[in-house]
Amino acid sequence: MSRKILIAGNWKMNKTATEAVELAKPIIDAVANQNDIDVLMCPTFTSIPAVSALVGNSTAKIGAQNVSDKASGAYTGEISAAMLRDLQVSYVILGHSERRSYYGETDAFINKKVLACLESNLKPVLCVGETLEEREAGKVEEVIKTQLVGGLADVPADKAESIVIAYEPVWAIGTGKTATPEQAQEVHAFIRKTLTEILGTVSANIRILYGGSMKPSNADELLAKPDIDGGLIGGAALVANDFLALVNSGVKAQAAKA
Ligand code: PGA
Repeated sequence: MSRKILIAGNWKMNKTATEAVELAKPIIDAVANQNDIDVLMCPTFTSIPAVSALVGNSTAKIGAQNVSDKASGAYTGEISAAMLRDLQVSYVILGHSERRSYYGETDAFINKKVLACLESNLKPVLCVGETLEEREAGKVEEVIKTQLVGGLADVPADKAESIVIAYEPVWAIGTGKTATPEQAQEVHAFIRKTLTEILGTVSANIRILYGGSMKPSNADELLAKPDIDGGLIGGAALVANDFLALVNSGVKAQAAKA
């Protein structure tokens, strides 16, 4: 299998820079020579410089949780892709359901950010997922297809492979309710099929992460599924030992899928 498992921590609006260093240090040390899978931490903007400075030669990667759709200029309060690159950031979480629902981000707006990332050689982690209401109304595929088609419009073919998709059913985020491995696999397979329609055969190389109450007790089963290529982890990423247990699950799953 050519897809490298990605275990990503979404720290959300948690941890001061000092606390972020405490959380990141044992993770960076533990994965220092880890080349089997990719391990990513996404702190707040204010903690990125301190965490980046710790990475050194470790293979741990740093991501951001948002980026401006604009390149530079009079956009008070915004942070550009180039500014993130300068801090060793290599991934950016985009279209998270919290940004869609609390900050009104639309597929068209998220698409501009996806394109801004690709332009600066940052890897977008585009989040998609349905609400409980949409699932109960039988609209899972419709909702996800709309988010993918809108979010990935005009993606240049030569950059498509760097995109990561995260399937995060809104009803599973921070609720302790996880999608069953079968439910998740079904949607992941649909996402891959839709990616083939939008981007072509490169979809076989695009990683699709699962997110929504992933934790050490359920990760092995989820990561064993053929179209689940990693996890985007919120709550469990805030405890170094839990996150490292998830990294271990990722390493085991990668070996089993090889
Ligand atoms: P959770 O969050 O693991 O706390 O459910 C996942 C996410 O929102 O990315």
